[in-house]
Amino acid sequence: MDFKLSEEHLMIRDAAREFAKSELLPGVIERDNLQQFPAEQVKKMGEMGFLGMMVDPEYGGGGMDTLSYVLVMEELSKIDASSSVIVSVNNSLVCYGLQAYGNEAQKDKYLRPLATGAALGAFCLSEPEAGSDATSQKTTAIEHGDHYVLNGTKNWITNGGSADYYIVIAQTDKDKGHRGINAFIVEKGMDGFSIGPKEDKLGIRGSDTHSLMFHNVKVPKENRIGEDGFGFKFAMKTLSGGRIGIAAQALGIASGAYELARDYSKIRSAFGKEIYKHQAISFKLADMYTQIEAARHLVFKAAWEKDQGMNYDRSSAVAKLYASQVAMDTTIEAVQIHGGNGFVKEYHVERLMRDAKITQIYEGTSEIQKIVISRALLDD
Ligand code: CAA
Repeated sequence: MDFKLSEEHLMIRDAAREFAKSELLPGVIERDNLQQFPAEQVKKMGEMGFLGMMVDPEYGGGGMDTLSYVLVMEELSKIDASSSVIVSVNNSLVCYGLQAYGNEAQKDKYLRPLATGAALGAFCLSEPEAGSDATSQKTTAIEHGDHYVLNGTKNWITNGGSADYYIVIAQTDKDKGHRGINAFIVEKGMDGFSIGPKEDKLGIRGSDTHSLMFHNVKVPKENRIGEDGFGFKFAMKTLSGGRIGIAAQALGIASGAYELARDYSKIRSAFGKEIYKHQAISFKLADMYTQIEAARHLVFKAAWEKDQGMNYDRSSAVAKLYASQVAMDTTIEAVQIHGGNGFVKEYHVERLMRDAKITQIYEGTSEIQKIVISRALLDD
């Protein structure tokens, strides 16, 4: 077993680290305050190749492995989780889904621009009454000649307002339950497709989250992904990879907060010495570091299993469950170590604490991860 990163992986990590400091850090507090989508930054992330990292170069992607992707996700998330979720959704849920299950025409038309950053994607599964219970889709897509007619509402959609292409999961035959669900590629601007107001969120406020409404939207049949009835499995398979991306995001939020707290403890003095010399603080830092190391190993292992072609449903859920808890715990401690300054925006840790919470909710709550893990235990 080799725990050392290769030269290539180190180069990718360092490039992302440098990019995050030079391009994401400036203005990150203002974007959070104003809920401003990082349009300029997304354009630059496209130029860096961060938006289609694992896509085959044949379709304009970086052809990199999942480990490279999680290294980049960690570095971006240390500084700006609003930007990193955009990267995660585009890579894991949209590009991966199209690359793995789309046909050649779909890859040529949609994957190519999504991989290069010329277009942005969104993944639309959640509904007002189908968040965790994803089989209960109320959005319908009824077959009619050479197209499907789409009706319904999707909620909490990341990149909801800024995406160009949307993968929409819908029920095509209610009697077949989850086997009557399909996934469709919907383009912004199709007649009957409208975007609701932006959600006013606790965290990741720079990313744009919207409800989407579909009213008799005609979606050409060639925009269905995979065989008829494949939509639910498509969503589940895609989400397993998505959970690796969000686990890496949680890891980055945690390690970003830890680094800020560690550095602060070296410059802040109380009771006649730097606060890291007080055991109350140094023990907190030791606990944070240990938890982050453990989370990193779980995230890397899930990425490695995916790269080996193994089943990663369980390892991705384990990594997300644990890393998101670590993100919550360590950001709370980072605020505590900063004392009064931790409660002030300019020190960044309060934002990281707010951003951490969503990692326990989206792409399956912590409770959903426990369902996935406990079911997999039966196979042992
Ligand atoms: N791969 C392939 N097939 C899978 C699968 C997987 N990982 N997981 C389940 N399936 C299949 C099952 O085998 C079953 O098929 P068969 O009947 O043919 O055997 C079918 O799917 C139904 O499975 P279950 O009976 O296990 O389904 P369930 O209703 O009990 O639910 C669940 C399973 C794991 C709870 C699922 O509903 C789930 O993951 N829910 C959470 C959804 C979620 O993560 N939403 C996040 C929204 S996306 C988002 O947040 C993006 C964003 O914007 C950031």
